[in-house]
Amino acid sequence: MKTVFYQDGNPFLPFGSQVHNSNVQSPEGLEIFWRAQSALGGNTAEIPIYWEYLEPEEGHFDFSQTDMVLESARKHNSKLILLWFGTWKNGKMEYTPPWVKENPDRFHRVITHDGFRTGVLSSHCKANLNADIAAFTALMNHIKERDDQGTVIAVQVENEPGINARSMRDHGPEGEAEYQADVDAGIMNLLAGLPEKSRVRQAWQEAGGASSGNWRKVFGRHGSEFLSAWSLGTYINNVAKAGKAIHKLPMIVNVWNGDGGFNQPGMDYPSGGAAAKVLDLWKFVSPDIDIIGPDIYLDSIKQNSAVCAAFCRTDNLLFVPESPRWKTNEWAIFNAIGNYDAVGYFMFGAEDILDEQGAPRPELLSTIDSFNMIKDALPLIVEHHGKIHTIIQEEGMAAQLIDLDGYSCSAKFTPPEKLDFRHRYPSIRSGERGRGFLFQTGKNEFYCVGDGFYLDLRKKQDHKGDMVDFENFQKTSHVNFITVENGHFDSEKGWQADYRRNGDDVYYGIWMYADVHVTRFVMQD
Ligand code: DGJ
Repeated sequence: MKTVFYQDGNPFLPFGSQVHNSNVQSPEGLEIFWRAQSALGGNTAEIPIYWEYLEPEEGHFDFSQTDMVLESARKHNSKLILLWFGTWKNGKMEYTPPWVKENPDRFHRVITHDGFRTGVLSSHCKANLNADIAAFTALMNHIKERDDQGTVIAVQVENEPGINARSMRDHGPEGEAEYQADVDAGIMNLLAGLPEKSRVRQAWQEAGGASSGNWRKVFGRHGSEFLSAWSLGTYINNVAKAGKAIHKLPMIVNVWNGDGGFNQPGMDYPSGGAAAKVLDLWKFVSPDIDIIGPDIYLDSIKQNSAVCAAFCRTDNLLFVPESPRWKTNEWAIFNAIGNYDAVGYFMFGAEDILDEQGAPRPELLSTIDSFNMIKDALPLIVEHHGKIHTIIQEEGMAAQLIDLDGYSCSAKFTPPEKLDFRHRYPSIRSGERGRGFLFQTGKNEFYCVGDGFYLDLRKKQDHKGDMVDFENFQKTSHVNFITVENGHFDSEKGWQADYRRNGDDVYYGIWMYADVHVTRFVMQD
């Protein structure tokens, strides 16, 4: 598995949930979060550290929140990805300390074209950068000192950075000077080598393909956003680099990708953030950022997949720092990990999956099941990452054809004719999507997790002419299984079979439910 996350030298796939923004103030408050995280079966929690708490007065650091978070994660046997709520939070400066907020003469803000001083710190201001670096490096130093158990596995630098204040760029004196200056020579060199489909290259060509000039000249109407992307990417890379120099952990940047409204930077999404459109620029200026990951809240499979595809690149692994705490995650987690090789996946605001009594909300049981299926299959996912067959029932879909090595397989989303005594017809809880993973681990050996489908397999034959090229083509019941087992993975002993299915219970194919956990089946050669 290609990844940036390791545990004891082995690849590790972090998944789970992120706490609500303001719920990191006491161990008691966090308990609700941990209850939700445990219902999801997650192995890693994403928890913010607020700059306003860390450095209440300039140069005076208070690590009590950080220590509380570390202790709480250890108590719950969880890994941590810390989120640095520093200069930016959702394209604003909400979590900066009062001494930053109250001193705009020193800590410059983004100024709009009509002179309005926004609530966003400017990436062009050195004092902002230096103050953020001082706080972030203090944090990294502290983690290095205190985290002798390796609980913290990565840090997200800032949160959804950019300008979220009806401006594509900072029109203040520093920003204006950068806008009027020639585009950096490194960027000019980069442009010529970018592929045709690159949106950065397309913007350059649309503006006439100039070989030098200021941001307006080189990128035309996109110049303001591109300048902000270049400036923010450089700023945040400097923060990450300073942090890594102290404690070398993977550094992540998350993205509000702008998937709503009119796609207007600064209005519909923060301008200058690492949106898919400007990803080529960001990757170029941020070599110390290990992964740029989109927050994906899209309920349409088509739109959700388009964002996954945009961030799953040879120079950037897909990592999803935030995703819905609603039904969409029934299938979206499978889509990202199975179809787009995501190396990490998180639900935002997990506390919401529980009701007032702390019990899982009935309407979210299928989403909770999906996260637990990922937990059940984790060893297989890590081992077969990039070669997983993903099953997702799209709207109105009755079956999905899967091409296997030596076999053709139809995942059928209609209830099979017969189930066992634990699972009776009608099999599928109303409104749920069939979803899961199928792993081919040998010529005739398979593992499966999932819910709401059954597998119908046919062996491919090498027939010539007009013969149907399957053996056992007539009925599922003609397929011979050597063994079909439900089971689980033990961290020391590996695969453990808990229950064997045979007779009536395999006669109509391998039907999958979350509560059978992992199913392993071996076909006759
Ligand atoms: C995205 C942000 O990154 C989170 O901190 C939170 O504000 C969510 N949006 C709310 O949906």
